[in-house]
Amino acid sequence: MDRVKTGIVGLDELIQGGIPREHVVLLSGETGTGKTILAMQFIVRGAIDNNERGMFISFEQSRDSIIQQTKAFGWDVEELEKQNKLKLVTHNLAKENFKLLDEKLEKDITDFKPDRLVIDSLSAYGVFAELLSFLELISDLNMKSEEIPLSTTPESVVRKAVLNFIDKIRSYNTTAILITELPEKGEFLSRDTVSEFLSDSIILLRYLGIGPTQSRKLQIRKMRHSSHRIDPISYTIDNNGITISKEEKFM
Ligand SMILES: Nc1ncnc2c1ncn2[C@@H]1O[C@H](COP(=O)(O)OP(=O)(O)O)[C@@H](O)[C@H]1O
Ligand SMILES: [Mg+2]
Repeated sequence: MDRVKTGIVGLDELIQGGIPREHVVLLSGETGTGKTILAMQFIVRGAIDNNERGMFISFEQSRDSIIQQTKAFGWDVEELEKQNKLKLVTHNLAKENFKLLDEKLEKDITDFKPDRLVIDSLSAYGVFAELLSFLELISDLNMKSEEIPLSTTPESVVRKAVLNFIDKIRSYNTTAILITELPEKGEFLSRDTVSEFLSDSIILLRYLGIGPTQSRKLQIRKMRHSSHRIDPISYTIDNNGITISKEEKFM
């Protein structure tokens, strides 16, 4: 099977060499666990080490903020953009219209044809969908009012929007990481409750333990077509980005 190297030191050997090409991976975690850094490392390392074109789409941070953040790790996003190996796209959802946003995303992705794609985040996209008026969204999804089932709720509209979005991502034949915020309570691994079923793989980032023993842990909850570690594995964030802790690599 053709696999895409993650660019995260120590991770590929835990998943049989990398993410199966063109899979949709959900990267779910609490805030501050390093989701954005991990996803940017996947894009930057792919561009530098594997000559794979990466597109990073953010709904959460401004272009300046991302460029600043990545400089700390020695990653020169603007230089990679000049080489046409990377494209950073940011959208301020407060200023977007739902239908136009989908059209812009579609155009950006089909024009650039990335080998690797990141959406930061699917949760922001879902919240955005939720904020839009119920009827406007339904009309964007091309439903006629007589087709709207009585059971339709804002939550179900969000789920439908996320379902359509993931379906679209799949059609681009790219290896995608979709970031979601991990809900603090409840049995679901995503806010929208559907993306975890629609993705091929799920990587969780969490803080485990208490007090001084607290550490960052990465857990592979699902990876289709792969045998993989299932227990939480420690990782660190430093000037090189994200690294799987050595002592646990080959356990
Ligand atoms: N240069 C760095 N060295 C070590 N840790 C860092 C560095 N930069 C950021 N971090 C850590 O990464 C966290 C932010 O990572 P980020 O990917 O933005 O999180 P998320 O997207 O999951 O909210 C910070 O809270 C900090 O703990
Ligand atoms: Mg983030």
